[in-house]
Amino acid sequence: MARQSESGLPVEPVYGPDALAGWDPGEKLGAPGSYPFTRGVHPTMYTGRLWTMRQYAGFGTAAESNAHYKQLIAHGTTGLSVAFDLPTQMGHDSDAPLAHGEVGKVGVAVDSIDDMRTLLDGIPLDRVSTSMTINAPAALLLLLYQLVGEEQGVPADRLTGTVQNDVLKEYIARGTYIFPPKPSLRLVADLFGYCRAEIPRWNTISISGYHMAEAGATPVQEVAFTLADGIEYVRTALAAGLDVDDFAPRLSFFFVARTTLLEEVAKFRAARRIWARVMRDEFGARNPKSLMLRFHTQTAGVQLTAQQPEVNLVRVAVQGLAAVLGGTQSLHTNSFDEAIALPTATSARLALRTQQVLAYETDVAATADPFAGSYAVESMTDAMEAAVLELMGKVADLGGAVSAIERGFQKGEIERSAYRIARETDSGERVVVGVNRFTLDEEEPYEPLRVDPAIEARQAERLAQLRAGRDRAAVDAALGGLREAASGTGNVLYPMKEALRARATVGEVCGALREVWGSHVPSEVF
Ligand code: 3HC
Repeated sequence: MARQSESGLPVEPVYGPDALAGWDPGEKLGAPGSYPFTRGVHPTMYTGRLWTMRQYAGFGTAAESNAHYKQLIAHGTTGLSVAFDLPTQMGHDSDAPLAHGEVGKVGVAVDSIDDMRTLLDGIPLDRVSTSMTINAPAALLLLLYQLVGEEQGVPADRLTGTVQNDVLKEYIARGTYIFPPKPSLRLVADLFGYCRAEIPRWNTISISGYHMAEAGATPVQEVAFTLADGIEYVRTALAAGLDVDDFAPRLSFFFVARTTLLEEVAKFRAARRIWARVMRDEFGARNPKSLMLRFHTQTAGVQLTAQQPEVNLVRVAVQGLAAVLGGTQSLHTNSFDEAIALPTATSARLALRTQQVLAYETDVAATADPFAGSYAVESMTDAMEAAVLELMGKVADLGGAVSAIERGFQKGEIERSAYRIARETDSGERVVVGVNRFTLDEEEPYEPLRVDPAIEARQAERLAQLRAGRDRAAVDAALGGLREAASGTGNVLYPMKEALRARATVGEVCGALREVWGSHVPSEVF
């Protein structure tokens, strides 16, 4: 019996010319940098510029994270990627009761412009591109970044980076939502409009399948649900009166890279082709940049094991290779100890070194899309495309991504696939080296890195000082202006920026919006 891929598609033991009978390379591929961009978004790909080595990092206080970023830059990282702690992601200040026990844990705590200034101290914002994994409060963190840029004397049109800003997948897979879907989407469209006018080189969203994959989505589900979310964002922006070619060039994506290398390469190629066609044919985009699916990749955390953790180094190398062969623009390679705790300094450096070996010691960066024309990979790319389109059709039949989310469709499909993976692993049908085969009788001891719990008290102290030292009347007036804009139709980012400049905190700004927009309460089906 033919083996099945991770997506449940048949994998043949041999592919030959028959597999591509009637196949038209002109229609399916084009050249690298040309429609439908199957072969990559640039004509020269990595010979023109290597992918960005962008390691997701940050924990504890802004000062600690700043030191860590400087170390990463010294080791050769080529872009920053900021991890925020859960309270920041949920729009709560570090001294809020709901923040207790979480401050600085999974990322850095940023409560106000004071923290952002410390976080970016000594980092030249006109030269480094920064990704910020922030969703519901994405607008706030972007504005804080812009304000610090202003203090550094960097004009907004020189700032480059990305905010994740993908609220839809928060309802599907990740969970850090604040407001209900409708005002959340309005905020996304406001951010698109603001960046078009003020920060034109900023990537306004990172439409993410990664977290769905971590929750158990197959490659087909990952791409189908992500592109369906992308379509919803495009519709929202069009409905807000923006022109498609005004915002589409700055949409970006974020996918996982698994150890199943061939299927992953096919996935990336199929995703680019589908997006180019959707943007051209469904939305009438004309600017070639609007048709290009540009993406960041992170290696699959869910495939790392706590048992024999050094084996993860090997997995990550294969996963990173898949991302590069698939034409990624930016890459995070996981540290081998991430299944256990936050990476240590040594393991974080090794993760970056893995990318550097791929870039400088192998030959994969020397040739664009080296798998083009492969019987196997082209067949897999076509099969992936067909299966993704079928699933996107199901989402469309349910009324689009938001309606499907409200019915729990994506979440239900992903849960079913997660259950299948767990069952196969338990039964040994799916081999996981070091876990259900090739195990050790006794694991070697490992000393993980731990975050200092005293950070919470230190952040609360900083907040108390901030509140004592600012002009309360100015803060209240600015928050009033924000509430007023949120109840109307004006772009909320302009009054939001004034509030943040007056040193309103992340919790206060999100609190003002919560008062007007309410908070999202998951429905029964979730
Ligand atoms: N020829 C000509 N120009 C080229 C080129 C080539 N071969 N290669 C690159 N360039 C140009 C690009 O066009 C771009 O110029 P532009 O801005 O004028 O268009 C410039 O060089 C920079 O290149 P890229 O845009 O390819 O690379 P970036 O790194 O700047 O951007 C991205 C990549 C994917 C578009 C962007 O959105 C990005 O960096 N995303 C990162 C997202 C991220 O890090 N997320 C972390 C998530 S972690 C997470 O979610 C946590 C958890 O819960 C797991």
